[in-house]
Amino acid sequence: MKLDSILVIGAGTMGRGIAQWFAQQGVSVQLLDNNDDIAKEAIQSVQASWKKLEAKGKFQASEIQSFKEKLSASTWEEIRPDTDLVIEAIIEDAKIKTSVFTKLESICNEDTIFASNTSSIPISSLAKELPEKRRENFLGLHFFNPAPIMKLVEVIKGHWSKPEMITFFEEWFTEKKKEVAICSDSPGFIVNRVARNFYGESLRIVSNYDVAKMQEVDKVLKKCGGFRMGPFELMDLIGIDINYSVTESVWKSFYHEPRFAPHQLQKKMVDSGRLGKKTKGGFYDYE
Ligand code: NAI
Repeated sequence: MKLDSILVIGAGTMGRGIAQWFAQQGVSVQLLDNNDDIAKEAIQSVQASWKKLEAKGKFQASEIQSFKEKLSASTWEEIRPDTDLVIEAIIEDAKIKTSVFTKLESICNEDTIFASNTSSIPISSLAKELPEKRRENFLGLHFFNPAPIMKLVEVIKGHWSKPEMITFFEEWFTEKKKEVAICSDSPGFIVNRVARNFYGESLRIVSNYDVAKMQEVDKVLKKCGGFRMGPFELMDLIGIDINYSVTESVWKSFYHEPRFAPHQLQKKMVDSGRLGKKTKGGFYDYE
């Protein structure tokens, strides 16, 4: 197994961060979005981020040049069939994700590994319609936001994932200085299952939209709990819509277990279009 080239599907918050990190590891990256303008804007945004890192002295100009050469936007027609790995990072919707994998099945070689960055959808349910060989070459690779900075990667073993592939990724990521957690294929895996209570209980404490209360909860969890970000700051960073979909998905998968239940306030925020930093306003306002 080798990892010289990858295709990232979805150039939103996660896709662009994943693409950036892999290019920094010397891997050739194609980045695709069903909206070509988003893919192009993502490349510009990654390049702007590299420029800032160069200015801060984190990378040399020659390194930045080599990263840039590794990263390109792609259309469906331009996908390299012999790419080593595809990472899907599109909307958290099982049906849409499945249709993307079915489409990729007709394009990619049978040895190409398929991975999903899903936060909560069981990996095996995304693989089950695919041919046997692909199901063996299918796993979850769950990165955290921002992907170039956050060390943790959850490597999720689906029902058919071949063990040597899991070991390959464990060793490869470890060599590249990521922290790997091997997870079984259960809703929310490890982090997003534990985190439901971090968000859910905080939402129940504030109950209604009340900035002073949200600030108080964020402050307590940072100052006393040792978290780098409070729950409301973190939901704004993740995207309240994404966080809400993940909560709904985990809650439904656990047969409507009350401790995983979504909160009215999350739903209200999503309906109002205040989704967090990406819309310049969520629980808090941003410039
Ligand atoms: P996002 O909404 O920022 O980006 C999704 C992108 O996918 C959009 O640019 C959209 O145009 C594109 N897209 C939608 N359908 C597509 C299709 N059929 N083909 C190609 N592109 C398509 O979403 P985000 O936050 O990047 O999340 C993506 C995935 O990563 C989700 O499964 C989410 O649960 C997971 N995730 C999100 C994290 C976060 O902090 N936002 C953290 C870890 C995982």
